[in-house]
Amino acid sequence: MYRTHTCGELRAANVNETVTLAGWVQKVRNLGAMTFIDLRDRYGITQIVVEEHSDEATKAAAAKLGREYVLQVTGKVIERESKNPKIPTGDIEVAATALTILNEAQTPPFTIEEVSDGGDDLRMKYRYLDLRRPPLQRAMILRHKMAQSIRRFLDSEGFLEIETPYLVGSTPEGARDFVVPSRMNPNQFYALPQSPQTLKQLLMVAGYDKYFQIVRCFRDEDLRADRQPEFTQIDCEMSFVEQEDVINVFERWAKYMFKDVLGIEFTEPFRRMPWIEAMEKYGSDKPDLRFGMEFADITDLAKGHGFSVFDDAEYICGFAATGCATYTRKQIDALTDYVKRPQVGAKGLIWIRVEEAGIKSSIDKFYSPEEVRAMAEKCGAKAGDMVFILCGKKFKALTQLCALRLEVAQQLGLRDPKKFAPLWVVDFPMFEWDDETERFYAMHHPFTSPKPEDVEYLESDPGRVRANAYDFVCNGTEIGGGSIRIHDAQLQATIFKCLGFTPEKAQEQFGFLMNAFKFGAPPHGGLAFGFDRLCSLFGGVESIRDYIAFPKNNAGRDVMLDAPSTIDQSQLDELFLSLVKPE
Ligand code: AMO
Repeated sequence: MYRTHTCGELRAANVNETVTLAGWVQKVRNLGAMTFIDLRDRYGITQIVVEEHSDEATKAAAAKLGREYVLQVTGKVIERESKNPKIPTGDIEVAATALTILNEAQTPPFTIEEVSDGGDDLRMKYRYLDLRRPPLQRAMILRHKMAQSIRRFLDSEGFLEIETPYLVGSTPEGARDFVVPSRMNPNQFYALPQSPQTLKQLLMVAGYDKYFQIVRCFRDEDLRADRQPEFTQIDCEMSFVEQEDVINVFERWAKYMFKDVLGIEFTEPFRRMPWIEAMEKYGSDKPDLRFGMEFADITDLAKGHGFSVFDDAEYICGFAATGCATYTRKQIDALTDYVKRPQVGAKGLIWIRVEEAGIKSSIDKFYSPEEVRAMAEKCGAKAGDMVFILCGKKFKALTQLCALRLEVAQQLGLRDPKKFAPLWVVDFPMFEWDDETERFYAMHHPFTSPKPEDVEYLESDPGRVRANAYDFVCNGTEIGGGSIRIHDAQLQATIFKCLGFTPEKAQEQFGFLMNAFKFGAPPHGGLAFGFDRLCSLFGGVESIRDYIAFPKNNAGRDVMLDAPSTIDQSQLDELFLSLVKPE
């Protein structure tokens, strides 16, 4: 038997027991007569002491130890002279009678402690060493607990966990596919699923009624802190439901998760916000509601006073930054630089300082004090606030102002990761116009049903059609999204037409689904949550990477496995592939 206890288990009640522990050497302190060893495993750290009167073999083994050696220790639990209240095993130590080195270790390239001295790249390369550190272990444990919690809830609600294939056909869902060449079908390719969307719909056609899966999805898109090329969804679908039914089940689920995992109770219903309200008040379809600072449309007040920047703009909007009237010129300049960065893209920033003593602004030349005050008041400013204003094309200006609102909130410390502000965003538009390709795209995906009352505008005015789609948003992140699906082959064909598919192309890509709909498809709908995002939300860390055991870096590489990599000519030959050198 390698061990009788773990390194996190022993307490004062175990004093005088003879125990055997196994783990990694975190630290060795040689004090001449005595040697102290911190022995670590997933469960904690226990102090081992090798005393002067220990036998020679034990002392010799202790002298050889280095960091991360794998060690087995047998000894007697004794009460510590100087206790360590910071760790649960701090009342005791183990006086070693036998030390067995199970494996030696090279000196690790960074410290394996709560806070490491290793840089990002180095820690990614030696991910298995980074994973030994307590913060990553806590993240993995949280993820595990959440997965159990999800299964418990959905099982109790009658959902069946059903797996779907990873080698599927390519279907457009917004991102690029990762493709896999087929040896047995020369010149043909599988695609890895961007989500099991169509498969779960087929499970509804097959009568499975309530499905879920904690499933890997693959998307070849540019990476950010909350995006990985392979990520995990909690994917769900239900039959004979309307939007309200789906939202009800998953609101209960979300509340169950908050309670079960974090001990946080939400007694009130989550807020529901139409998409257009989210855009106009927060400049985002994933508003951060942990704080206020809502936007106001001041186009009418600001236009027509000879200030050409505003006169030429389609839309002018602003918000009152709480308590920011004290911002200095330097701080305002820094925020102006912030909105002018290419990632935000504004041309400049207008400000109004509201103080008891009076109002001052960067547009005093063009407006009377009353006119400036009216704008500030429309933005909800009180004495002590600073109003920030941007203008331009409506949704562009709103999006830019959103970036500024979040930046200001960050500076004010309002984005507290321990605070949670969940909501449902509803009434999304069906389609999104793309100026570049001059066509409509499905805002959610092509299987989303339009609101029945908007169906009549599908062909005449697609832009005004709203979808039966909903997103679950928390703290400025889209955690999940879904919709009621089309279950009628005819309506599905119309939507494909709106999206610019010819009937032949639609048949080629989605024939399997449209054919299935001819065999008695029930009304159905569902959603999917980003599991990695949910973990990072609950864990209070921005990057989802910390909640994935073996993530990719920002260039989509696994630096530990050195993937992607080249393959042998013989492998290429087998796949009938020849390579073209990139330009
Ligand atoms: P959607 O594309 O909105 O919907 O994805 C659902 C959720 O998955 C998460 N997510 C990601 N997480 C990490 N990295 C990524 N690259 C990434 N992309 C998406 C988000 C998102 O809310 N089939 C539909 C769902 C449905 O209609 O039922 C779908 O995939 O948290």
